[in-house]
Amino acid sequence: MLNNEELAEIEQSPYKADFPLLAQNPDLVFLDSAATAQRPGVVLDAQRRFYETMNANPLRGLYRLSVEATAAIDDARKKVASFIGAVDEAGNPCGNQIVFTRNASESLNLVAWTLGRTILKPGDDVVISIMEHHSNLIPWQQVCRATGANLVYLRMNDDYTITPEEVAAKIGPKAKIVSVTQVSNVLGVENDIPMIAARAHEMGAYMVVDGAQSVPHLRVDVRKLGCDLLAFSAHKMCGPMGIGVLWGKPEVLDAMPPFLTGGEMIDSVTETDAVWAPVPQKFEAGTQDAAGSYAFGAAIDYLNEKGFDALEKRERLLARYLTDQLAALPYVTVIGPADGARHVGSVAFDVHGIHPHDVASILDMDNVCIRAGHHCAQPLINELGVEIGSTCRASVAFYNDKQDIDRLVAGLDKVWKVFNGNN
Ligand SMILES: Cc1ncc(COP(=O)(O)O)c(C=O)c1O
Repeated sequence: MLNNEELAEIEQSPYKADFPLLAQNPDLVFLDSAATAQRPGVVLDAQRRFYETMNANPLRGLYRLSVEATAAIDDARKKVASFIGAVDEAGNPCGNQIVFTRNASESLNLVAWTLGRTILKPGDDVVISIMEHHSNLIPWQQVCRATGANLVYLRMNDDYTITPEEVAAKIGPKAKIVSVTQVSNVLGVENDIPMIAARAHEMGAYMVVDGAQSVPHLRVDVRKLGCDLLAFSAHKMCGPMGIGVLWGKPEVLDAMPPFLTGGEMIDSVTETDAVWAPVPQKFEAGTQDAAGSYAFGAAIDYLNEKGFDALEKRERLLARYLTDQLAALPYVTVIGPADGARHVGSVAFDVHGIHPHDVASILDMDNVCIRAGHHCAQPLINELGVEIGSTCRASVAFYNDKQDIDRLVAGLDKVWKVFNGNN
């Protein structure tokens, strides 16, 4: 339970005023940030500023405007690199380790279809976890099918933990690629990536991390994570939709062939062949979303200015309060750890005997937004034994407050009464 001081900290949100959609809809309770975050005005302004003041096709022109558009992307790369600790020994950001894609799904597909397709042979293992979002599962299913490799699953114990014993048992000498989510988008639990990465490397496998639910909420530092590749999306961290990131160790990205081809991703082309441009251009075929990258840079500036550590601390308090309040309802079961401190952003739950779609639709009548469904993690939902294949999920971001969660609880009371009268 939160103490009085902690409750006072989350009583109201000092951030909502920065978010036009939240500020203009004071009655809205947005508890679906794991699906996509809201964007502050500074991000919307940046998107517009790009088109109003520096719009030209980046990388292609030698005139000032095009050079500015190119610089806008490069600046954004550096901001992203700094944000995840991709810096050199002098602390300078390594922008060339940041590949811009459309989203985390595309980043993970890129890895599967370039690294996976190149190195996997029949009988090799690709190891993922049972908690994966479909975006870190289907690409590996497909690549295993194409190469004859086996897809092996790390499973959780009863405490929703992937233990070192499980890791040692499943990641063996046949493992060539291990790809695991840092934070589950359903259970909200954080996996011990450094431990899993150490085992992967001991066995000579590459370590890929799906950071879609971790980079927005935790201070992720690629120097400490121990992975080779990390994927995430701007839209879950206050940036625009349509921008994803793939960070990689330079030697790993260098060794990977391109994914999509065409446009400025080449050094030279003949009638029969092409020589690739260096990373990151090698992976960025066609015209890039320069305005989106620039606006993503503005999102990172915003998170840094507000103090990311303070935002993370606030989110942890909100997640604890959310878990405690849900667990206290006699007709609700939290799906995942009972300890709110283990939830990074998301809490899945079941309202006894009421379909999650009904729960979400009735809450919506009171302007409370939550997610209902399989959360793009059907194997996990099956593993959890959820027979109807669907759960409710509420997820918080730093701009939420205690009142949002209290409104959710009041809404759930109403849902319960709609189905059960006053019993
Ligand atoms: C854990 C996880 N991985 C990957 C994704 C895919 O992200 P995107 O839809 O931005 O590609 C999501 C989206 O919810 C996610 O939660």
